[in-house]
Amino acid sequence: MDVEAQKPDCSKNFIGGQWRDPAQGEYYTNEDPARQVPLGEVAIAGEADVDHAVHAAREALNGKSWGRMSPADRGRLLWRIGQTIRERGEYLALLESLDTGKPYTEALHGDIPHAAGAFEYYAGWSNKITGEVLPIPSSYVDYTRHEPLGVVGAIVPWNFPLQMAAAKIAPALATGNTVLLKPAEQTPLTAMALADILSELDVPPGVVNVLPGFAATGAALVAHPGIDKITFTGSTAVGKSIMRTAADTLKRISLELGGKSPNLVFDDADLQRAVRGVATGIYYNQGEMCTAGSRVLVQDSIYDQFMDAFLAALRDLQPGDPLDKNTRLGSLVSQEQFARVSHYVTLGQQEGATLALGGAPGADRGYFFPPTVFTEVQPHSRLAQEEIFGPVVAITRFADEAQALTLANDVNYGLAAGVWTTDLARAHRVAHGLQTGTVWVNTYNALWHEAPFGGYKESGHGREGGRAGAELYTQTKNVCIRI
Ligand code: NAI
Ligand code: MG
Repeated sequence: MDVEAQKPDCSKNFIGGQWRDPAQGEYYTNEDPARQVPLGEVAIAGEADVDHAVHAAREALNGKSWGRMSPADRGRLLWRIGQTIRERGEYLALLESLDTGKPYTEALHGDIPHAAGAFEYYAGWSNKITGEVLPIPSSYVDYTRHEPLGVVGAIVPWNFPLQMAAAKIAPALATGNTVLLKPAEQTPLTAMALADILSELDVPPGVVNVLPGFAATGAALVAHPGIDKITFTGSTAVGKSIMRTAADTLKRISLELGGKSPNLVFDDADLQRAVRGVATGIYYNQGEMCTAGSRVLVQDSIYDQFMDAFLAALRDLQPGDPLDKNTRLGSLVSQEQFARVSHYVTLGQQEGATLALGGAPGADRGYFFPPTVFTEVQPHSRLAQEEIFGPVVAITRFADEAQALTLANDVNYGLAAGVWTTDLARAHRVAHGLQTGTVWVNTYNALWHEAPFGGYKESGHGREGGRAGAELYTQTKNVCIRI
């Protein structure tokens, strides 16, 4: 496929249904991290562009074509967006792979269908979010309405660019809002390709606006008084700063932040399944995943057996060209992320953990990082406590169930956890004891649009997916009538 010929134009903002030059005339160069070659110039949206987009979004909200579109018609439109994403799967997967460094195969079978699925799933909710008539005294009629919040600012990260954008835009549109999307600076391509799709499908102008740029562009969305809600996925540090700034305008926020998710392997686990699950849990998407199972807790009695099988399973897992169909580990997204991951490897060694595998990147071009395993990791070390966001796993032993739970919960994060056991009662006991928004038993990273997803503790606020995901974009009005 000739990408050059079809690569979306990122040098403009998409505002009010039109491609517009950035007001300040500022641009940056986007990079393909695997080849370290430029992917094109990208507009930097400034405050004036954000303001312009807020007005376009507000106008669409109150306008005839979107504001008065029936919920069923909104649903049909969302469905068509999902279908178009599916039809362009190969093209979008290629863009995603070039931009992020992730394997093309994973983008094709993971990111892109998942993004399409978000639109298809929320298409169905468009006309199914119903209010209630309340049982109050008969001299009154009292009912509730779930109204849109208004203009939504969606700030997304670089690890699953289209998928994350879809997970926010689809429920926001299903419930009648309008959106300003700020893609991550590392990965603007599929956001712009989505703008192309919306434009072709005649989504009314201003319903979705795309504003590329860096942190300052995101911050301009958060500060703007005309934006009613910020939905964010990214680092906990930025999530905290968004929460602080949002207080000034009392914006609604939902935050999907980092994690340090544990995978607990009990001595009654199906060892082969556990080994495979733990490996994909940490190495899928180069470990650049909020749910990465980056801490592995293994019961003493099977520790040696598990480690032998785990290291053997990783023998053939080496980073390679993301566009090669057989590649399962691509490039990290950027030089910055490469430096961050490298730093943690040095830190782990300084902290006295044992480097059992990997650690030293080999390629002279591209930000490739090999699968890296640390054992004997101390529970309070930074290696065990901080999000690395790379293919680095910290392994610690435990003696019994009680200790496993204590270790698992002893971090500030609480996004997800995996439990590997064949004991049914233990599976439920441990699932109930884990302080995480998601618990996977004998599986990992099984994510469904139907299921609520989000964090406990510093992993965030709010739940994406399911009915909860739609309700993130509504506010309830109560209407009480004296009859
Ligand atoms: P980040 O949190 O800085 O970036 C995420 C998004 O927020 C990007 O679109 C960025 O431009 C925007 N942003 C940055 N500062 C902002 C601000 N002050 N106000 C509004 N928007 C802002 O993440 P970054 O720097 O790319 O990665 C750093 C670390 O964050 C990673 O190593 C990883 O630990 C974590 N992270 C977690 C993600 C997750 O899925 N939960 C995704 C990406 C990063
Ligand atoms: Mg890029």
